[in-house]
Amino acid sequence: MKPSILVARAVFPQILTQLAQHFEVTSNQEDVIWSASELMHKLQGKQGVFTTGSQRIDAELLAACPELKICANMAVGYNNFDLDAMTAAGVLATNTPDVLTETTADFGFALIMATARRMAESEHFLRAGLWNSWRYDMFAGSDVHGSTLGILGMGRIGQAIAKRGAHGFGMKVVYHNRSRLDAALEAACGASYVSKSELLQQADHLILVLPYSPEAHHAIGAAELAQMKPTATLVNIARGGIVDDAALADALKNGTIAAAGLDVFEGEPKVHPDLLTVPNVVLTPHIASATMPTRLAMAQLAADNLIAYLVHGKPLTPLNPQVVTV
Ligand code: GLV
Repeated sequence: MKPSILVARAVFPQILTQLAQHFEVTSNQEDVIWSASELMHKLQGKQGVFTTGSQRIDAELLAACPELKICANMAVGYNNFDLDAMTAAGVLATNTPDVLTETTADFGFALIMATARRMAESEHFLRAGLWNSWRYDMFAGSDVHGSTLGILGMGRIGQAIAKRGAHGFGMKVVYHNRSRLDAALEAACGASYVSKSELLQQADHLILVLPYSPEAHHAIGAAELAQMKPTATLVNIARGGIVDDAALADALKNGTIAAAGLDVFEGEPKVHPDLLTVPNVVLTPHIASATMPTRLAMAQLAADNLIAYLVHGKPLTPLNPQVVTV
């Protein structure tokens, strides 16, 4: 008998076709957002689940789903997983590293540029019919080339952004990370290690690319924003909750920093109402990895992990490989 799996959100049809060759598949092409108890109910009798960042996998759910063996997340971030609880329950977690690195770095750079050059604000002005003459300082922003790029979090995506900044835009690149990169990698990225305070003080453009963890909660709040230059911009493509959105909205209103670009929000898809009313912020709906080839590669890797583990016992990108016993 084929193992049974649940695909918790809508996905590319060809991925479902492929999964159906190996599994009894229950899908959700209507893309209904299930509550925790609905997810629990749908997972009864399933050995695997294809998740996205919007399904929370925690101890309560695991206790109610004893047949579950693997949760394959279609995302590199996995803060929707309680990894310790999954490991304790012997449930494998997988994510989708590497396949989205360059696409996400491109988007990080796009947001840096859109923020520095006030693209959203000026587009809204134009669409509102307010453009009636040229003016010497109209939407004058800050330069990206030759400026100092600060990167908080220096994993694969941070490194890809550093290379774009250092080698493409002639930027001085400084970074802060839990652990310092080795000298060869720092040289390849054109980046220098600094303390978090130095990073905040030196960056003309600061981008956040660190994973969410309880320690990273509100890593950028009022005190950190106060250390930044009043001309600086802040970009968050990491996770909501790393920035204190209310403090950021205040900082944008008060001129503590010049502008921000945000792809992720605490409690998304809700957005802090104050951020919707300040002009100097570019807002996008968590789309940093959203190109068709990259989203397909992410879905493929999540599906391949389900097949590799449930059919062959060897996952491709495990987060808790210690649970693999075969
Ligand atoms: C997107 O946010 C991801 O973690 O892949």
